[in-house]
Amino acid sequence: MLSFIKRACALAAVLAATAWCSGAAHADTVLVTGANRGIGLEFVKQYAAKGYKVIATARRPDEAKDLHELAKANKSIVIEKLDVSDLASIDALAAKYKGQPVDILVNNAGITGFPDKQRFGSIDYESFDDVMNTNVRGPLKMSEAFTDNLAASKQKKIVVVTSSEGSIAGVTSNRQPFYRSSKAAVNMVFKNIAYPLKDKGIAVALINPGPVDTDMMASARGRMPLRTTELAVRELSAITEKLTLEQTATYFNFDGTTLPW
Ligand SMILES: NC(=O)c1ccc[n+]([C@@H]2O[C@H](COP(=O)([O-])OP(=O)(O)OC[C@H]3O[C@@H](n4cnc5c(N)ncnc54)[C@H](OP(=O)(O)O)[C@@H]3O)[C@@H](O)[C@H]2O)c1
Repeated sequence: MLSFIKRACALAAVLAATAWCSGAAHADTVLVTGANRGIGLEFVKQYAAKGYKVIATARRPDEAKDLHELAKANKSIVIEKLDVSDLASIDALAAKYKGQPVDILVNNAGITGFPDKQRFGSIDYESFDDVMNTNVRGPLKMSEAFTDNLAASKQKKIVVVTSSEGSIAGVTSNRQPFYRSSKAAVNMVFKNIAYPLKDKGIAVALINPGPVDTDMMASARGRMPLRTTELAVRELSAITEKLTLEQTATYFNFDGTTLPW
């Protein structure tokens, strides 16, 4: 009986070591917000293909058909419900993942707000709050809620999918003031919180994906050249991979150059 137990223990040790060597038991984890379409969905696709465990979040997971298709083909994708404009929703997800390392947090979810709600003279302030709560408060709260998970990981990185529209230096006309101020604000928030995050070894990248062919840019189709989500995410991930603590809170363009604040 004793020798049977010894043989079973030895076999278990070999199996565990094999899983570790193949990377299966120790895959790095990436958490993506707004993962059901556009740039977020492509992040899920590319990180899963690289062997990451992907926590793919969506505010309406039941309707996330493309994401479910991806998850069916790749068992390392876990779909979770998350509305980044809802503080309780973020707390609930953080509670579920308490104690589990998250290597890369991709703050991707974002909205522009409807153009007719941001016309000066007839501003819709509820819509202004929606844009700010989603694009600024969401990434801030996500980063705060998942700080311990990031600090416990190997890579310790936060990506904020910002925009060149957040560059105050680039403003020459009144266009999408809600969206542009939200991206300027999210840049400022992360420029600040990069300090306490750096103390924990966590680096932040603020990255502009450029004009990308997603639902967000549907009205620009045919009017300006749009880049594919495949290319944009490949570039954003390359910047993330090379990111060092010394570069934290750099405002990157998709090509790795820096943008003026
Ligand atoms: N496309 C571009 O040219 C471009 C350029 C610069 C920056 N960006 C930035 O890139 C990011 C992704 O944009 P995209 O082009 O992929 O846009 P998109 O196709 O419109 O996708 C936006 C994503 O954000 C999600 N989302 C919106 N509000 C949310 C909330 N409260 N909670 C959780 N998820 C929410 C959407 O989910 P639902 O399906 O539930 O709405 C969707 O998954 C955004 O931050 C955007 O500002 C895009």
